[in-house]
Amino acid sequence: MAWLFEMEDVSYTYPGGIEPALDHITLRIPRRKRCALLGHNGCGKSTLFLHINGIYQPEHGDLKWNGEPYLYRRSYLAELRRKVGLVFQDPEQQLIANTVAEDISYGLCNAGMSDAEVARKVDEALVRFGLDDLRERPVHHLSLGQKKRVALAGVMVLRPELLLLDEPTAYLDRLHTKLLLEELETIHRDEGTTMLMATHDIDLAYEWADWVFVMHKGRLVLEGTPEEVFKRREVLEEMQLSVPLLFDVWEALDLSFFNGTLKRPRTAAELRYQLERYATENKRKMG
Ligand SMILES: Nc1ncnc2c1ncn2[C@@H]1O[C@H](COP(=O)(O)OP(=O)(O)OP(=O)(O)O)[C@@H](O)[C@H]1O
Ligand SMILES: [Mg+2]
Repeated sequence: MAWLFEMEDVSYTYPGGIEPALDHITLRIPRRKRCALLGHNGCGKSTLFLHINGIYQPEHGDLKWNGEPYLYRRSYLAELRRKVGLVFQDPEQQLIANTVAEDISYGLCNAGMSDAEVARKVDEALVRFGLDDLRERPVHHLSLGQKKRVALAGVMVLRPELLLLDEPTAYLDRLHTKLLLEELETIHRDEGTTMLMATHDIDLAYEWADWVFVMHKGRLVLEGTPEEVFKRREVLEEMQLSVPLLFDVWEALDLSFFNGTLKRPRTAAELRYQLERYATENKRKMG
């Protein structure tokens, strides 16, 4: 089956809410893909995540994991949450232990790993997320960006089958965004982890994702490859969403006539490389 997770016609309204946070939404997550989830504040991204890992139960519609419907039983949900790792938008909601190292080891200990194994994995994670100097720090003394990195490390170290990242780069600086993306790349390459990342960073979504979802008012309005989605400029603009800068530049350059051999660049480095190739080829042609 192509879908790791499916959500069919799901609606959910918060207690006391007037508008539904999810409004008859149908969304399927393709296995092994890196998916980006775009949409304005309040369109329902975090609510969607909280449904996928079973924290909320929909008032209407069905959810399926590997084609099997969700069961809202304690044992089922515990098992589900071992497969679905959620990094909360707000790291304050995620961190539970006293120190950074304890927090990252928490889930590993719960998974029944030996002390030596836990220690090894925690050490690795601390280094990879640039947290080594902070290992004994009380979690409540950390900056917001540091807290977010601890939360990311604590979930990613568990190697879930589906990794849900709710605005993972929101509080991160450039260096730590880069470290995170490298770590996601490694996990994706080594384990084929399926990922869904909510983000307001459209350029990041374009660079990173193989598949893009766009939500609006609790519904899914667009999905497809980055190219398919960002070509729908009129739909995006109607929702006041922008087109990624590199996509825009590439469309404006319109080099499509160039024997179709130039690949649409997803990073600034790729753009430079493509333009250099174009220039070299042009020079050669002109003799
Ligand atoms: N705990 C809550 N109680 C009541 N209403 C809520 C609660 N959490 C969210 N909502 C409402 O549900 C809707 C969807 O919120 P949600 O947090 O899912 O949006 P989002 O897309 O994640 O937004 P953002 O980009 O700001 O993170 C919003 O209208 C919001 O006000
Ligand atoms: Mg949110």
